[in-house]
Amino acid sequence: MESAPALVALSNVRKTYRKGEAEIRAVDGVSLRIEAGESLSIVGRSGSGKSTLMSLIGCIDVPTSGQVAFKDRRVESMSDRERSRLRNQSIGFVFQSFHLIPELTVEQNVETPLLYSGIPESQWREPVRRALASVSLESRATHLPSELSGGEAQRVAIARALVRDPELVLADEPTGNLDSATEAEIADLLFSLPGSGRTLVLITHDAGLARRADRRVELRDGRVVEEFR
Ligand SMILES: Nc1ncnc2c1ncn2[C@@H]1O[C@H](COP(=O)(O)OP(=O)(O)O)[C@@H](O)[C@H]1O
Ligand SMILES: [Mg+2]
Repeated sequence: MESAPALVALSNVRKTYRKGEAEIRAVDGVSLRIEAGESLSIVGRSGSGKSTLMSLIGCIDVPTSGQVAFKDRRVESMSDRERSRLRNQSIGFVFQSFHLIPELTVEQNVETPLLYSGIPESQWREPVRRALASVSLESRATHLPSELSGGEAQRVAIARALVRDPELVLADEPTGNLDSATEAEIADLLFSLPGSGRTLVLITHDAGLARRADRRVELRDGRVVEEFR
């Protein structure tokens, strides 16, 4: 029986950066399949290539060599516009420093992925309400980010990542700026996402957090050195 295509498949992917004379191999020959519905954590020290790998998995960037496929669609041969559309439709991002827009209310921040979606504004209310409800922040809809705690700000960022109901959620050190009680709350929220057609890729250097995923991959100097089940 043919197996279903991976949600994301990387084969022998490299990403190099030039720094003057030197060439930095941020990601150095990684092959990885990410299955629909699973949770995967990517661990490794600072500088090991985690964020670079995330930008490749998330179709933000394309590899210097090798192939990336999203549901069997080759990412490196897409135009910038096609890649933007794929990201907007199918991938939600959560970052360590939240990346909320300070001038916009909570609700307006959650709306931002809808701005470029082609979905008419008259149809935004329901997905925004649903996304805010999924992080229990309906009551904060008209607040500004400056009025939120760190944990609340990250929940808004998660709501924003979910507003288009993406197949893949990518979180890069999502608890790195939070105290340990809040970290547990955000981790619970993220690990409630996978399944029913949604996949979670979590980048972290917190071993405890990483162990909660179905599968773990360790990066060292841009290479996968260990894969734990
Ligand atoms: N835009 C860039 N230009 C040059 N070097 C970069 C760039 N982004 C990352 N690097 C380098 O690539 C390596 C991996 O970085 P990164 O993916 O950010 O690692 P991590 O997220 O694990 O800390 C590091 O040596 C870093 O300095
Ligand atoms: Mg990083």
